[in-house]
Amino acid sequence: MKIIDNNKINLSVLKNSIQQPDIFKKGTDKFWEDEYISEQMLNFHLNPDIEAASKTKETIDSETSFIIKLTDMKEGKDVLDLGCGPGLYVKEFAKTGATITGIDISERSINYANENIKPEYEKTFFIKKNYLDINFEKSFDIATLIFYDFCALSPKEQELLLSKIHRSLRDNGIFILDVVTEKKETATLTNVSISQGGFWSPKPYIEILNTYLYEEPKTEGLQYTIIDEEGITKVIRIYHRLFSLTEITEMLTKNGFKIEKVYHNLKGESLTEHSDTFGIIVRKV
Ligand SMILES: C[S@@+](CC[C@H](N)C(=O)[O-])C[C@H]1O[C@@H](n2cnc3c(N)ncnc32)[C@H](O)[C@@H]1O
Repeated sequence: MKIIDNNKINLSVLKNSIQQPDIFKKGTDKFWEDEYISEQMLNFHLNPDIEAASKTKETIDSETSFIIKLTDMKEGKDVLDLGCGPGLYVKEFAKTGATITGIDISERSINYANENIKPEYEKTFFIKKNYLDINFEKSFDIATLIFYDFCALSPKEQELLLSKIHRSLRDNGIFILDVVTEKKETATLTNVSISQGGFWSPKPYIEILNTYLYEEPKTEGLQYTIIDEEGITKVIRIYHRLFSLTEITEMLTKNGFKIEKVYHNLKGESLTEHSDTFGIIVRKV
């Protein structure tokens, strides 16, 4: 998309591109799979001190030890980590002796994991794939989907993914996920900034960030409009479905899972009425 025509800014194209999109409308460009952006993302994943593409190292350590204990993860068990990124959770899980399969759509993250984790932990397997396309059949004892990935999907994609995870698990298998909740602080805002080259592109660009709220279902939308010096414009859209406890419980139950326990997070902290995240443990029935 181009917003400069005959040396003029086409304001109606610009206006269109920053207005509130229909809920779950996709952006014009890739995000996790983009060659340049995925490199910036990998740097964020690997920074142990900031919660951006992955949680901080301290949180990952705490979550993995909670999950390992809770699921009795050990040699002989098969674990599926969906949206594994560069394998930060896979690595910790693999230390138990279990066999861990990580799936991610980002080629860069999968290459990193194959080069940096696989050589030391032989029983890890990394597959570059859209997790909506997995076709495992009763192959895993435990499946994980961590860092609120479930909330980025449309309701249709959520149902599809739940059915795929259900099919991937053995009888009584455990599925662990975290989501953001309706208690998350949100704001509707517009923020404009100019970069000489940064997260979205090595070349100079304008970034217009619009955040929107949707009521049905309650969802936060982040829309980044990125315009380069030639007027070439990309729109990246990210959504966070904000669940109530009843909604997520009903969705999981309807898709063949029994709720074992809902925590405030995957460190196992107790739920409160103010919890802005849920760490959820369910079992295939
Ligand atoms: C927020 S990151 C979390 C990564 C990892 N779970 C962690 O916490 O370190 C989301 C990950 O999901 C991957 N991802 C997003 N959509 C995907 C899809 N449809 N199929 C497979 N992977 C996907 C991204 O490439 C990214 O690595």
